[in-house]
Amino acid sequence: MNDKSRNEEVQRHYATPRHLVTRGSFQAKYATVSWFGWLIDHMNLQTAMEVLDVGSGPAWIWRSQFDRLPDDLRLSLIDTSQGMIEEALANLATLEKIEVVSAKVADAVTLPHPDETFDAVLLFHVLYHVDDPRSALREARRVLRPGGQVFVSTNALENMSELHTIGAEAFGGSPVDPGAALFSLDDAAQVVGDLFGSVRRFDLSDTMTCTDPKDAVTLLLSMPPGIAAPEAQQRHLAELIRKESDRLQGTLKTTRRNGLIVGTKAP
Ligand SMILES: C[S@@+](CC[C@H](N)C(=O)[O-])C[C@H]1O[C@@H](n2cnc3c(N)ncnc32)[C@H](O)[C@@H]1O
Repeated sequence: MNDKSRNEEVQRHYATPRHLVTRGSFQAKYATVSWFGWLIDHMNLQTAMEVLDVGSGPAWIWRSQFDRLPDDLRLSLIDTSQGMIEEALANLATLEKIEVVSAKVADAVTLPHPDETFDAVLLFHVLYHVDDPRSALREARRVLRPGGQVFVSTNALENMSELHTIGAEAFGGSPVDPGAALFSLDDAAQVVGDLFGSVRRFDLSDTMTCTDPKDAVTLLLSMPPGIAAPEAQQRHLAELIRKESDRLQGTLKTTRRNGLIVGTKAP
């Protein structure tokens, strides 16, 4: 697939938060660790910080972790999806501790902000959608103040390998997490290390026990390649998942493996 058709597919995928809602619901039901809480634990956000959230999606991290945020956070958002920006603004509208400085439709590789504007730049689960993640990280470095930090989250190659193995049997192709196949946690550590020098890595592993096989099917159909699978393959997937769930007496386990890479711009 060339860059243009890949970008069109990303635009379609994120025109609304629908697919993110499916994935978020699976985690809300089965995760034992709060992903957004875990991220906030590693960020040390301070009062009056200038923060840029790149590929913010619906801004769920801010709404869900509101009680744990410092006062007067000054937040800027960008996302390539107008629908996501609208959803994010609606979600942030009533959160008094946060001042939304700007919310724009823009691309991570051409940030519409001046040099040295932010104390923190977040790229959470977005770089696997960007044609050139290294350029996006150069942009993040440009808009950070000296001493500012970039926070990059993505999936490890083995993320939910138990489910992706069944997905590969139904759809063909590889059992590797589709996001990580494009930009994995190891890739993030490598590129942030190259561009920022100082880099820290935090890994999260959380085993989820799915007790309703329909949830696992819906999850795999909310992301590539399942999202574009013909009906026959979707039915095959549902059958394979049901059989595996029955074999495991209704306790289909899958382990979320993802993490956070933190880079600091030289003071
Ligand atoms: C998987 S969602 C992550 C949303 C949010 N960061 C989170 O972690 O909940 C990816 C988001 O990145 C946006 N996106 C995709 N490509 C982008 C790009 N090149 N520049 C900026 N945002 C992009 C999508 O529209 C979508 O909202």
